[in-house]
Amino acid sequence: MRTVKDYYYKKAKKDKYPARSVYKLEEALNKHKFIKRGDSVLDLGCFPGSWSLYASEIVGEKGIVVGVDLQAAENSPRAGGAEIIWMQQDIMEEELITRVRKIRPAFRVLISDMAPRTSGNKWADHQRSMRLVRQTLLLAEELLLPKGNYYCKAFQGEDFPAFVEEVKQLFKKVKVVKPKSSRVESREVFVLGMEFKGARKG
Ligand SMILES: C[S@@+](CC[C@H](N)C(=O)[O-])C[C@H]1O[C@@H](n2cnc3c(N)ncnc32)[C@H](O)[C@@H]1O
Repeated sequence: MRTVKDYYYKKAKKDKYPARSVYKLEEALNKHKFIKRGDSVLDLGCFPGSWSLYASEIVGEKGIVVGVDLQAAENSPRAGGAEIIWMQQDIMEEELITRVRKIRPAFRVLISDMAPRTSGNKWADHQRSMRLVRQTLLLAEELLLPKGNYYCKAFQGEDFPAFVEEVKQLFKKVKVVKPKSSRVESREVFVLGMEFKGARKG
């Protein structure tokens, strides 16, 4: 277990975010500007809520954030931030689409920091991550607006290149991003897809 409280852990405490992961979104966003003022954002795997809080500040009062997780999150947005609707739901269940569409039929941006429960077995953990990220792509096809953006965590492994190819079928510009705040020893990376081209046919 990690006992050293690192730079980003301390920074998150100081900036009053519930998790250090917020900087994995902030850094990519500063560079690639894939969330803008007034946007609607769907945040998959939002608990404890840092990404949703940060996205709410970026989109401002005219935007909206819907945060989904297996666990119940409940942070209030900051002053000037967009409303955040927290939803406790497994993203693998079909019910998610119906529940989300009742709030908003489609979104400008889909972000996902989801991580499967790890077993210590690298192959099994990679496969679990791939199941989750493939589901985020299916959800993007159902719920993203044309030209919408996508930013999703994945654990690298043998099926990762094929996943990136799938993202390329759906988005005009695709990049694999490793933010500084992501631990070097971690196999996690983030796939950024910009300008959604529309759902695959068939
Ligand atoms: C690293 S945490 C997210 C941290 C969050 N981005 C933040 O900044 O506060 C990963 C989350 O993914 C969620 N998760 C994993 N599988 C999920 C699933 N099938 N449906 C919904 N959430 C899931 C976990 O419950 C966990 O809270």
